[in-house]
Amino acid sequence: MTTRVCITGQPVSYSRSPLLHGFWLKEHGIDGFYGREEVPPDTAADFYRTLADRGYAGCNVTAPNKEIAFSVLDAADPSAVALGAANTLWLEDGRLCGANTDGYGFLANLDATVPGWEGARRLALVLGAGGASRAVVRGLVERGFDRVLLVNRTLARAEEVAKPFPGTVHPKGWEVVPAALAEADILVNTTSLGMKGAEPMAIDLSPLRDEAVVSDVVYVPLITPLLKLATARGLRTVDGLGMLLHQGVPGFERWFGVRPKVSEALRAFIIEDLRA
Ligand code: ATR
Repeated sequence: MTTRVCITGQPVSYSRSPLLHGFWLKEHGIDGFYGREEVPPDTAADFYRTLADRGYAGCNVTAPNKEIAFSVLDAADPSAVALGAANTLWLEDGRLCGANTDGYGFLANLDATVPGWEGARRLALVLGAGGASRAVVRGLVERGFDRVLLVNRTLARAEEVAKPFPGTVHPKGWEVVPAALAEADILVNTTSLGMKGAEPMAIDLSPLRDEAVVSDVVYVPLITPLLKLATARGLRTVDGLGMLLHQGVPGFERWFGVRPKVSEALRAFIIEDLRA
């Protein structure tokens, strides 16, 4: 029987997950289907509770439903408990299980693209305090960074994200950026600045050390203004597409029984769609 999985959220029309999983299904010759389901938040709890009745073996969850999906799980992986949000659901003996693979995707992408990216793990500078920031901050703490400076326009949101990590994650305003850059092993942008249609990212990267890595979770455009500046400065850079591709790996393995690879061919396939 064909194993059926889908991306859920609102909107899901922009999601590249069907392309990503479709590529892997074809590559491995698996009898599977990965579709899209537009699921508004007010009906989301019911949708996830009745996933099996709808013929699905599992699903991915995107904005704005990740917290709702987490709240209806029968069993939550520690990765979902940590963030209070789930992006990957599957059924096990009729029980609805869920994980959050965003932190995994962030770390796996860095490991694959710039081995040794952690440097001395003394300081990471993270810009932004939305959903992506939570996964990034947790990933950095798990990797053993002594200090994570979390810079956000709205300080209260940074304080909220930093709460589980007293003494390690420090909420700050943008004014600390120049001094923090001089010490940082890695700079990560999780804000929407630089995204197609949004305000550009205006930041002077000159204080960064030559060994520092610059990473963006934005992937439209693939080469963001921040990554352009970093490349011009001769720094190692990591774009946001890899995080998206890597976060899909654990879900695909669960649903379809094969651990897929994030290959150059896959990247090229998705990039072609982003350009279209
Ligand atoms: P996601 O959940 O996708 O990570 P989000 O919750 O929409 O994103 O958060 C967007 C991030 O970009 C926030 O950190 C936001 O800052 P605020 O919390 O102060 O809103 C940041 N952001 C968006 N536009 C910005 C701007 N013009 N200047 C500074 N930060 C901005």
